[in-house]
Amino acid sequence: MSIIIAIDGFSSCGKSTLAKALAKKLDYLYGDSGAMYRAVTLYFLDNLVNYHEPAEVEAALTHIQIHFERLNGENTTFLNGQNVEKEIRSMRVSEHVSPVSAIPAVRRAMVRQQQRMGEQRGIVMDGRDIGTVVFPDAELKLFLTADPDVRTSRRHLELVGKGIDADWDNIRHNLLERDHIDSTRSDSPLRQAEDALVIDNTLLSETEQLDRALEIALKRGAEVA
Ligand code: DC
Repeated sequence: MSIIIAIDGFSSCGKSTLAKALAKKLDYLYGDSGAMYRAVTLYFLDNLVNYHEPAEVEAALTHIQIHFERLNGENTTFLNGQNVEKEIRSMRVSEHVSPVSAIPAVRRAMVRQQQRMGEQRGIVMDGRDIGTVVFPDAELKLFLTADPDVRTSRRHLELVGKGIDADWDNIRHNLLERDHIDSTRSDSPLRQAEDALVIDNTLLSETEQLDRALEIALKRGAEVA
């Protein structure tokens, strides 16, 4: 049986690491919803769209096409046909993505696309509102948490690994600021779905976390590929 697995949680809690690993084990699609909000943000910044102006936002959204491809085994984000995987992870985008993703018109457009990706089920999607708004009927909902310093160090390592220059304090500040905006916005705030299972992975290795999640996914009807 193909199920939907929704993974939500604060910034840099290891959601995408877990989602990618689960998708690989189950041979499911991986949906990186954060990458979509990041790609919209990049478009707004590059095209000088004033995102405080609803008319400008609506017009710009009609020019934005986002899709994913696997390149060298990695899930890669394309914006209007261009590979933007590296740029969307930059601090420039991280600094604007929370206010952009709080805009209802932006959310409506992205949620529609995310729900289309899940029509066949067999998907692991991570984000902030996946279990609450995008796939409220997901068979498995996980909510990840971790200590802020551990999260900062993980993000720092990830950025450095991708060759992106980043300052530890700056990253920590950005993570906490995004958590605050993402949890307090009025449209689809980040919150734990009532039927979500919480995993605090501060002290868990990637393998331990995967084993735990996989065991639950199999109990919920998923089958290893
Ligand atoms: O997962 P991420 O850090 O790449 O997400 C970037 C931002 O996008 C995050 O700060 C909030 C927003 N986001 C959202 O509002 N809803 C989602 N489902 C996923 C991400």
